[in-house]
Amino acid sequence: MESTQISDVPLLSCSEAIERSRKFRANYESKQTYLAMYSSIYGGITTDPTAMFIPIDDHIVHRGHGVFDTAAILDGYLYELDQHLDRFLGSAKMAKIPLPFDRETIRRILIQTVSASNCKKGSLRYWLSAGPGDFQLSPAGCVTSSLYAIVIEDQSPPSDHKGVKVITSSVPIKPPQFAVVKSVNYLPNVLSKMEAEENDAYAAIWIDEEGYIAEGPNMNVAFVDKERVLLIPKFDKILRGCTVSRVLMLAEDLVKRGGIRGVQIKNVSVEEGKRADEMMLIGSGVLVRSVVQWDDQVIGDGNEGPVSRALLDMILEDMKSGPAAVRVRVPY
Ligand SMILES: Cc1ncc(COP(=O)(O)O)c(C=O)c1O
Repeated sequence: MESTQISDVPLLSCSEAIERSRKFRANYESKQTYLAMYSSIYGGITTDPTAMFIPIDDHIVHRGHGVFDTAAILDGYLYELDQHLDRFLGSAKMAKIPLPFDRETIRRILIQTVSASNCKKGSLRYWLSAGPGDFQLSPAGCVTSSLYAIVIEDQSPPSDHKGVKVITSSVPIKPPQFAVVKSVNYLPNVLSKMEAEENDAYAAIWIDEEGYIAEGPNMNVAFVDKERVLLIPKFDKILRGCTVSRVLMLAEDLVKRGGIRGVQIKNVSVEEGKRADEMMLIGSGVLVRSVVQWDDQVIGDGNEGPVSRALLDMILEDMKSGPAAVRVRVPY
């Protein structure tokens, strides 16, 4: 490869830089399409991906001082928007990021961004940052906290819901103070996911410092024990998933129907987890996914379990026709 002379690097005007960014985007294929972005920097929504940027002096970029959350879009409804928004505001508080707007305004901005995107099936992701201002560590010089939101179209083929394999993560778990915040500091999560992929597994599971099962890199876990009780690890040292919280409510119906005998939120040891009849991953991305193998241990009979399947069907049904508390209609 030829060495690049300093003089080869062009000095660009703003419009030339934008034009080159546009060409750069046009030259790569992304599996995801970004339909709309809101930014409090320009106080509006754009549908042009070239204008979907974050200032480099924003502390979310160079210090990781930001929090985020998501919500699925299905059939023109936002699923669990308020539940995710509550967690988002809780994360902002723990990260000591002041809100640039009140909750109602943030909610309105998010819904309007989805409306402008015209997306009927996809996901909404949003970030709150300490904001732009300088490259210091302290946010004292940030002009204002910033809010960003993006709408991503879902073009993935329907999932086959087949059971997956997981491994135990060798990447250390985040300390509880950080694990309970949905901050942008996802390096441990990324490395954990990569470790799983290197081992032909779907996810790597974190074990806490006391030896109890914690969570996956972007999902919670649950088990069905020999007494047909649904076991969910406690939430004091992990992220409280909105999906698993909803599963907990929906599971009451499964108890009434006799599908399970009850639900328990408790510390689950690795040994208990590995000898469970069923293991599953639960989160906004995976919904409910049966685990059929953990490390060398086959879980249950090695097939997708009936409780995992029932809970998946309940979540899918809830997304399609659940109550207004979990489905917010987008006015397009
Ligand atoms: C670390 C972690 N745990 C659990 C979850 C599941 O949360 P939710 O169901 O709200 O998607 C996520 C979601 O991304 C996560 O990042």
